[in-house]
Amino acid sequence: MKRIVILISGRGSNMEAMLRVRDQGGLGPAEIVAVLANRPDAGGLATAAAAGIATQVLDHKAYGDRESFDQALAAAIDAYRPDLVVLAGFMRILSEGFVRHYEGRLLNIHPSLLPAFPGLHTHQRALEEGVRLHGCTVHFVTPALDHGPVVLQAAVPVLDGDDEASLAARVLAQEHQIYPRAVRWFVEGRLRLEAGRVRVSGAHQDGALIAPRCDA
Ligand code: GAR
Repeated sequence: MKRIVILISGRGSNMEAMLRVRDQGGLGPAEIVAVLANRPDAGGLATAAAAGIATQVLDHKAYGDRESFDQALAAAIDAYRPDLVVLAGFMRILSEGFVRHYEGRLLNIHPSLLPAFPGLHTHQRALEEGVRLHGCTVHFVTPALDHGPVVLQAAVPVLDGDDEASLAARVLAQEHQIYPRAVRWFVEGRLRLEAGRVRVSGAHQDGALIAPRCDA
């Protein structure tokens, strides 16, 4: 049984999608052992608590600098002995020490087709650039912001008449599909890093939304 800790900052819809898939048996042999937030008002905390999951808040405003917050956060996470740490809308830049500590077991989801549009306001920026394809990316985390080996991506068309809200909603629906899937691959031990690229074994059996690199 793999132990998963989820970090959130806000509404936690990706976390909720993961709980839903878990309840349907789709997350593999995994246990979501805790949900941690850096904001006391993160809406997802109530959802997690209602699902019977341990929750904890570490308010980053209570810490003098990034390093001391990240150290406290790592200590709180490690108390749950996670095999995997899942960033689900965790809106903090993480220090290099923190990222290195969780190397190979820290996943993030970002609402763009990385490496396009790292950072904030991805949907608005996609609209301003006039791209015809937008989407979301699950990746292993490296110290660079919204960067790291790509596990899975889903693309959505940008439609005439789209505004930020409509595009965000279409991308979010895909986030809820691909993040639990990527987590299941991790849990099942099917992800490996080869020369900085993610390889997925047996992915063709999943009918992946967008063909990931896979082998038998
Ligand atoms: C999601 O769209 C996620 O991709 C994004 O924050 C949102 C959180 O929503 N994450 C980032 O931008 C990370 N750089 P949620 O709280 O409903 O899951």
